[in-house]
Amino acid sequence: MDQSFVDKNVLDNSFSAIRRIKEMLGDVCPGYYIETYGCQMNEHDSEKIAGMLEAAGYRKASEKASADLILFNTCCIRDHAEKRTFGNVGFVKEIKENNPSLITAVCGCMMQQPGAAEALAARFPFVDMIFGTNELHLFPQMLESVMNGERIIRVGKPNEEIAEGLPIKRNAGFSTFVNIMYGCNNFCSYCIVPYVRGRERSRRAGDIVEEVRRVVRDEGFTEVTLLGQNVNSYNDNGLKFPELLRMVNEVDGLKRLRFMTSHPKDLSHELVMAMKECDKVCEHIHLPVQSGSNRILELMNRRYTREHYFDLVDDLRENVKGIELTTDIIVGFPTETDEDLEDTLDLVRRVGYSSAYTFAYSIRPGTKAAVMDGQIPEAVKKERLKRLNDVIAETIVKANDKYLGTVGEILIEGKDTRGEPMMFGKLGSLKMVYVKGDESMIGKYYNAMITGTRFNSLAGEIID
Ligand code: 5AD
Ligand code: SF4
Repeated sequence: MDQSFVDKNVLDNSFSAIRRIKEMLGDVCPGYYIETYGCQMNEHDSEKIAGMLEAAGYRKASEKASADLILFNTCCIRDHAEKRTFGNVGFVKEIKENNPSLITAVCGCMMQQPGAAEALAARFPFVDMIFGTNELHLFPQMLESVMNGERIIRVGKPNEEIAEGLPIKRNAGFSTFVNIMYGCNNFCSYCIVPYVRGRERSRRAGDIVEEVRRVVRDEGFTEVTLLGQNVNSYNDNGLKFPELLRMVNEVDGLKRLRFMTSHPKDLSHELVMAMKECDKVCEHIHLPVQSGSNRILELMNRRYTREHYFDLVDDLRENVKGIELTTDIIVGFPTETDEDLEDTLDLVRRVGYSSAYTFAYSIRPGTKAAVMDGQIPEAVKKERLKRLNDVIAETIVKANDKYLGTVGEILIEGKDTRGEPMMFGKLGSLKMVYVKGDESMIGKYYNAMITGTRFNSLAGEIID
């Protein structure tokens, strides 16, 4: 397991650049606006950029149109995400016409694809700064150059090193993310992530525990989600994920511990037992199955079978009381037949997910599946996606009934003002519960009795 770190001198340079920008700005507090596409990993990267900006004297702008710096953190997991980004970067032209000193930046996974940065730079000459996933920690130096009139286009190889100690401006709330590893080595045949995020590398367990301690003690978070593309292959010189989970579980003041994402090929019984034995680990797991057909799983290079997946579900359900599963599924993978889809629908019915992210297969240039024979027409993908979503909706509704009359702890997150105002919060299982109450409840934990079911959520009454 590679575990090289960004040189301390390089990080010192980043901090020096932050100080110089702050001096340059003096009393001025320019506004920044970050638009993030894609997964939690990208969300968290945006929190790091926000951290560097705030340390340099910037403040979050209330809206895009009034910002002095607009940054797009892009995603390329599906074609749709790419198209949206291009459209939205294009709109900035108008804002820039009204505010010529506006700094526009584009970064993230999409820029990491061959030729993407150059194409974006040519199409949008008003973009001042383009960088890849490898350059995140160099953001202050690049920003300083842009402020001095340069245009920066800098995309290197995807990350191979870990940058420790960058400031992080976490999104407000009670729940936050802590990275435990970066990159992915799995090369699922449809997926672009290993090409744009580089090889797997794990942070040191001590650094992770320290960060969790800090966010709980100093920033008031009570729920932490440990993030990695495949947390089950976490490896800090032999220290594996179940052990890390046990270490983080000991952090004082932490109430809830979550993690994502788990690859079924690497989910061990040891991890199931750690989930069972750690009181703060929530009774939820995101376990992407992708397909219920063994033939398709093999073509996807997932390296497990549906039978193995069922065994994992049994192990989890036997040991982790009340556990809910969520998943990702792709339909319309090359050569997928109606029979393969039936296998997926059958798996979905048997597992009974509490929620699922479903996708039509999207060709990603450079991946193995992109050049496979037997690509499925878009109309067929669309129709299959609808069939899958219908079955998932059925199973979710059915699975809600078991909650009726039970009592569970919810963390109140906010107020829903559509219709009769209600407070909402999540159970450990990630199920959303709506209750009567007021804003003073936000951020606190309450026991609720479940009295009703809706489609994707539950209704309850506070009992303490
Ligand atoms: N097409 C459709 N969905 C994809 N995903 C990853 N790559 C693709 C693709 N090329 C989905 C997978 C993954 C989730 C994050 O995105 O289901 O688990
Ligand atoms: Fe992509 Fe597979 Fe890695 Fe997940 S495990 S990021 S789907 S290659």
